[in-house]
Amino acid sequence: MNTSKLTLAVLGPGGVGGLIAALLARAEHRVICLAGDRTADVLRRDGLRVDSEQYGAFTAAVEADTRLREPVDAVFVTVKQTALDEALDRVPADVLGAAVVVPLLNGVDHLAVLRRRLPSAQIVAGTIRVEATRTAPGRIAHTSPFTQLELGAPVVEFAEVLRQAGLDVSVRDNESAVLWDKLAFLAPFALLTTRHRADVGTVRSGHRAELLAVLDEVAAVARAGGAPVTAEGLLSLFDRIPETMKSSMQRDAEAGLPLELDAIGGAVLRAGAAHGFATPATARLVAEVAQSTGRVA
Ligand SMILES: NC(=O)c1ccc[n+]([C@@H]2O[C@H](COP(=O)([O-])OP(=O)(O)OC[C@H]3O[C@@H](n4cnc5c(N)ncnc54)[C@H](OP(=O)(O)O)[C@@H]3O)[C@@H](O)[C@H]2O)c1
Repeated sequence: MNTSKLTLAVLGPGGVGGLIAALLARAEHRVICLAGDRTADVLRRDGLRVDSEQYGAFTAAVEADTRLREPVDAVFVTVKQTALDEALDRVPADVLGAAVVVPLLNGVDHLAVLRRRLPSAQIVAGTIRVEATRTAPGRIAHTSPFTQLELGAPVVEFAEVLRQAGLDVSVRDNESAVLWDKLAFLAPFALLTTRHRADVGTVRSGHRAELLAVLDEVAAVARAGGAPVTAEGLLSLFDRIPETMKSSMQRDAEAGLPLELDAIGGAVLRAGAAHGFATPATARLVAEVAQSTGRVA
């Protein structure tokens, strides 16, 4: 990979993808956003507009298309899990070839989907810790003062390219641990705040027994997945975050959007079953969220 000027595609230029695409384009890499007709038109015409607490306000010109038509060095996959299958039709495996593909979806099961759909590509597990919202096509509000990527493969030069574009990147060699480290906190946070339609302050004071039960279950499953987490460590994280914090699953539920319930809650239940752990508190929460939001568990 000649890292001085890369050609990168971003499948799903929303909150996460739009921010990454804009940062890479600002760093003078060639960026092709893959999106539906309407969003692609807006991006071609107006570029990506980012309002960021960390990076300031800027606009970045990007290319945009509805499908990949040429090989690229790398692809970021930043659609939600509920749109993944359909969105991948925009990335023909024979066009993509052996590119690096970094999915930044929450959850764990998308890696298998990507490896099946893009068999020649180098799929590199990734997580992102950020708060970024697509407020309109091509418009991104980045409200966290950090953007932390973790990659689960030794892609050292690629990581350096991302750092030079302004991202905070760490690299580990255990992809399962990377994904479960993130999910261990996210699953309880998303499920409890969505189920109780409450911010994290209300959850940790008003639903503490349920929080403790879910943390015990999820920590055991995440440890089996390779993440060095404990229920006590997760609880102390819960107790430290600002009390008004809401999860993105909760915001999606409030907006009537599809939920990543299967990717986030379903993944814990499947991995628990595979490792022989009982997860009754998590299973009840997943069922209740599905029922209260009219989604199928
Ligand atoms: N946002 C965050 O702060 C954050 C933080 C950590 C992790 N994550 C994870 O990152 C992933 C992406 O979340 P997000 O918040 O960035 O989602 P998002 O803002 O909803 O962006 C998703 C993008 O995918 C596009 N899309 C949907 N269907 C598509 C299709 N068939 N073909 C091409 N593009 C399609 C949407 O296009 P349109 O713009 O045309 O609707 C949108 O731009 C999720 O797994 C989420 O859990 C998000």
